[in-house]
Amino acid sequence: MNFVLHEAVQCNATNYGSTNSSPTPLIMQSKQEFVANVEEERKISNARKEEVMFLTWEDLEVTVPSGRKGRKSILKGLTGYAKPGQLLAVMGPSGSGKSTLLDALAGRLGSNIKQTGKILINGLKQELAYGTSGYVTQDDAMLSCLTAGETLYYSAELQFPNSMSKAEKKERADATLREMGLQDAINTRVGGWSCKGLSGGQKRRLSICVEILTHPTLLFLDEPTSGLDSAASYYVMTGIASLNLKDGIQRTIVTSIHQPSSEVFQLFHHLCLLSSGETVYFGPASDANQFFSSNGFPCPPLYNPSDHYLRIINRDFNQDADEGITTEEATNILVSSYKSSEYRNQVQNQIAKISENDSGVVGRKKIHAAFLTQCLVLLKRSSKQIYRDITHYWLLLTVFIAVSVSLGSIFYHVGASMRSIQARGSLVSFVASVLTFITLLGGFPPFVEQMKVFQRERLNGHYGVAAFVISHTLSPIPYIVLMSLIPGVMTYYLSGLHTGLEQCIYFSSVLFACILWVESLMMVVSSIFPNPNTGITVSGGVMGVMILTGGFFRLPNDLPKPFWKYPMYYVSFHKYAFQGLFKNEFIGLKLESGEDGGTYISDKEILTKVWQVEMGHSKWVDLAILMGIIVSYRLMFLAITKSKEKMKT
Ligand SMILES: Nc1ncnc2c1ncn2[C@@H]1O[C@H](COP(=O)(O)OP(=O)(O)OP(=O)(O)O)[C@@H](O)[C@H]1O
Ligand SMILES: [Mg+2]
Repeated sequence: MNFVLHEAVQCNATNYGSTNSSPTPLIMQSKQEFVANVEEERKISNARKEEVMFLTWEDLEVTVPSGRKGRKSILKGLTGYAKPGQLLAVMGPSGSGKSTLLDALAGRLGSNIKQTGKILINGLKQELAYGTSGYVTQDDAMLSCLTAGETLYYSAELQFPNSMSKAEKKERADATLREMGLQDAINTRVGGWSCKGLSGGQKRRLSICVEILTHPTLLFLDEPTSGLDSAASYYVMTGIASLNLKDGIQRTIVTSIHQPSSEVFQLFHHLCLLSSGETVYFGPASDANQFFSSNGFPCPPLYNPSDHYLRIINRDFNQDADEGITTEEATNILVSSYKSSEYRNQVQNQIAKISENDSGVVGRKKIHAAFLTQCLVLLKRSSKQIYRDITHYWLLLTVFIAVSVSLGSIFYHVGASMRSIQARGSLVSFVASVLTFITLLGGFPPFVEQMKVFQRERLNGHYGVAAFVISHTLSPIPYIVLMSLIPGVMTYYLSGLHTGLEQCIYFSSVLFACILWVESLMMVVSSIFPNPNTGITVSGGVMGVMILTGGFFRLPNDLPKPFWKYPMYYVSFHKYAFQGLFKNEFIGLKLESGEDGGTYISDKEILTKVWQVEMGHSKWVDLAILMGIIVSYRLMFLAITKSKEKMKT
């Protein structure tokens, strides 16, 4: 059952090679077509028995909010299908709705986008489960400090089941890299805003590698060839096209593409031409030329057919399509001609056949690596990324050390007088509040990078959310220990706070909890607001309110009772951080109450009267509460992400 290269378009036989026969006009398709249809039906029902996916969509409308209460239509009643073993190309001018169509089919439209119409998988209305399809999106989200080889090896370890040997996984990854021509870039880092790495086209190919590695049954690709030269495009597309029959399993491939060369065009079985969200043509790629010719727009000699189609249907620039006809008019002619054409009837017939044959088979979910393997691989990968990314924890550590030297010298040997009560309180509160802000500002951009990779991999079903949470909680721990221990000890001893090993360890532990809390807060906020700018602003706002209600800037008894005291003071992370640090600092400390010395103020008095600390529990309970809050935030992230996924399916 080899479908490849059978339906190639010939714009001009002399110019584009003449290995294929010229397209057969629809009216001439009689006995030959009948036999082909019977054969097609047989394939459809046989294919049911295998793991295949038939995708159909009818009257697909997509609208987005526009202006006050208005909505703008992006896709206008599209109907089409994608079959196993075939490559469907979606083409159209920029902004014609290609990405939106792919997103709609893959169930990935944004929450403000409304969609109507029927999308069926194997004849049934069902959403694509996580992991049943692969999607190479238009932008490449990968970890910048890993090399191309590492990116793919880790991906192979995550995506392939444990039953597959390590050597086999590596071999598959190497073969995929070779297939996409990346063998020479295997040791080059992906690169990002902090360091230059792979070129744009190489990144694109690496993104494709990650998704085609496991040969998913249904594969969406959004502009897989953007940034590639024509030869690279051809090889990449040949690799993708060859997937449709790999291992004897038929795969359904839908790809959007801007301007394929004539060789690449020949790889397409079906073509969906869009202009401003409307179907200009849907049918065999080889018949498109006939369709354009019959409507008065024949492809000129020595012309790439796709260039010709895109020039005619580009409404944005409204130039002359032909003598006396603008592209706007030409597109309108083609759109209305398609609506009443035999091609459209063929599409309806195919959809009806696919629906009749429904057997309820849904694409099988990928069999992943076991949960423990996922955790370990993600932990290794994330640790490597963190270690190499000097703009993340290493930079934060440097800044923390600089701030602690400043703090230590400003509060140098703070003294044991009454006046030192205020100074000691300010110092510990500064550490718990300002250092958390620095963590947020320095940590958000790298965190966003990791979250983007998580979102892409999660949508493609590479691993579970729990594995991500566990690994990303554990991987930064060594750095957070350094960030809390070194600056903690330096500040502590330089400023001459209540000396004692236990006090120093507690001080660093609270700093550790504060940094871990910021990371947890970033996780929760970014799961609600994925936009990085919104995320950092909202996180900063939440943190500000927590610090404000923590009981230092405004003492607990002075906080307005409704809302600020109950419940904000009690849910504030910083309440427990401040109180723990105050207890740590003042319990057992002897401070002189008079200028002349000799009289002392009791630690209990300082804590209850000056700082209004609750003395019912020890500082270790405060620390335990801080840890509990951190765990609850991580669980919140897990719950929000899971429920968002549930709502989508
Ligand atoms: N969320 C949105 N809000 C408003 N307009 C949107 C939204 N998403 C898409 N659009 C609009 O819908 C149209 C189609 O966008 P889409 O990204 O699908 O185009 P495309 O064909 O993939 O273009 P390109 O080839 O440049 O990637 C564009 O005009 C775009 O501005
Ligand atoms: Mg696009």
